[in-house]
Amino acid sequence: MNLLPAEGLLRYHEETKHHPERYARALGYMDWENQPDPFRRYEGAPVLDLPLLAQDPPGGHLALYEPAGASAPITFANIAGFLELSMGLSALKQLSGSRWALRMNPSSGNLHPTETHLVLPRMPGGSAGIYHYTPLRHALERRAELSDDLVQRALSCLGADGFLAGLTSIFWRESWKYGERAFRYCNHDVGHALAGMRFAANLFGWRLTCLTGLADEAVEAVLGLRRTRFLPQEEEHPDLLCLVHSGGRGSMPQTLPAELVAEFARIEFAGRPNPLSREHVDWEIIGRAAELSRKPATVDTPPTFGGRGMIQADDSALSAAAIIRRRRSATEFDRRRGIPRSHFFAMLDKTTPRDGISPFDAGLGEPFVHLMIFVHQVEGLHPGLYFFSRNDEHLPELRALTRPEFAWQPVEPGLTLFLLQPGDFRQTAAMVSCHQEIAGAGAFSLGMLARFGEVVRREPFRYRHLFWESGMVGQVLYLEAEAHGVRGTGIGCFFDDAVHELLGLSDDRYQSLYHFTVGHPLEDPRLTTLPPYAHLRGR
Ligand SMILES: Cc1cc2nc3c(=O)[nH]c(=O)nc-3n(C[C@H](O)[C@H](O)[C@H](O)COP(=O)(O)O)c2cc1C
Repeated sequence: MNLLPAEGLLRYHEETKHHPERYARALGYMDWENQPDPFRRYEGAPVLDLPLLAQDPPGGHLALYEPAGASAPITFANIAGFLELSMGLSALKQLSGSRWALRMNPSSGNLHPTETHLVLPRMPGGSAGIYHYTPLRHALERRAELSDDLVQRALSCLGADGFLAGLTSIFWRESWKYGERAFRYCNHDVGHALAGMRFAANLFGWRLTCLTGLADEAVEAVLGLRRTRFLPQEEEHPDLLCLVHSGGRGSMPQTLPAELVAEFARIEFAGRPNPLSREHVDWEIIGRAAELSRKPATVDTPPTFGGRGMIQADDSALSAAAIIRRRRSATEFDRRRGIPRSHFFAMLDKTTPRDGISPFDAGLGEPFVHLMIFVHQVEGLHPGLYFFSRNDEHLPELRALTRPEFAWQPVEPGLTLFLLQPGDFRQTAAMVSCHQEIAGAGAFSLGMLARFGEVVRREPFRYRHLFWESGMVGQVLYLEAEAHGVRGTGIGCFFDDAVHELLGLSDDRYQSLYHFTVGHPLEDPRLTTLPPYAHLRGR
């Protein structure tokens, strides 16, 4: 079938909706024999073991959003710290003889489709090269040695010092369990990882800017993805390349010149990707969605968000690094406990894009994602359905499209939060989130409502970016929940159209792309938690 890219993607989106009577297609059982290895290795590539942080970088809660100190030198040790606090392990969990790793970045089903690659200049202790990060060993695998001159020319085109960090996705890791909907989850995970890297960069006084002008083909060329022999279904697909830097000139070209990319395209890459599963299922619709949402080169003007001040009153007593390290997904909530309204406001406020405030200063572009919130237990607020705007330009349209009976009553000066309808939405919230109790049992849960049809029709690659933006919002909420003594969980399983119906939306102008829930966690007493790198002790 020969569909226009946008129409093909909109069809993918429609076909991978969950409905109460029909979930998106998946295997329907767990094929444990073929569970993909969550850790990629490039066998035969030289390995550079990285040091673990002896001491976390300084900075309180708000250092996540704005660097607290001067920029740290770009060294292997500091890059190791940046990786540890963004893509490294956060804990080992153990239950009756089986043990698995959790990571700083969350991932649907803990399946971790996202891989990290770095392009590093020459530094004491290592040559310039293209490296793959392997979080289990906390090491870099050198896939290609580069002339430092090439890296320096790339950096000088960008007008900054630093290094490049690239993300790729292995769709099979998610589709093994989630079938056709998995492409969405892989992209959420990219958003979580990107926000995680942006936050970690701040702790070293660094900035992070996405090279959003680059075509996917260029990202593939720089990371050697086309010059690597992957097993079918185990390919790494290009997501993005960003520059981690210490400032540079004001506005940076968010791209690299074609001649330079062509030089990268001639490099030889070392290392054979480890096989992840013995057998695979080819979910063809995912391959098609990936193809239809491939990004061409673009010329982007970075948006400005304005300077509305951040609510700072409720910053946490925890350090920024401690917040990152504590992040976990809750599996059950204490139904009796709510949160103060000041905490609720402070959490929402951090999802607002602001100039120079992370993670939305990473340069992805205009914000399209809003929050439709079910407030269950927030002290001093009526339980009910609320709306939080992250881009006020969309408000008139949203008000016109949603149910006429919604009150749109402003809640708090300086916060774009509106009460739409008071009421007890606990059951509704759980129902629309695939009957998951955690969506109805906490302090609040929400759906991320994105401006959709027009955005995808105009630039089909933005289909992926909308999920990235949702994932970034999710990462902010995960960390804010920890900062305020509660816990969050991303929710990828929800009944798409049931949410739209609740709001009175009847077409694709806005779609709910991701859900999230926050509350007081109840721990599972059967699980034992071990330190993240217990297995490397004595290295
Ligand atoms: C995109 C995404 C979707 C998720 N969907 C659900 C979900 O529907 N239900 C749920 O209980 N957990 C969900 N999770 C939480 C993951 O299962 C969790 O992140 C993973 O098990 C790793 O655990 P950690 O977050 O504690 O590191 C989701 C996480 C992400 C990032």
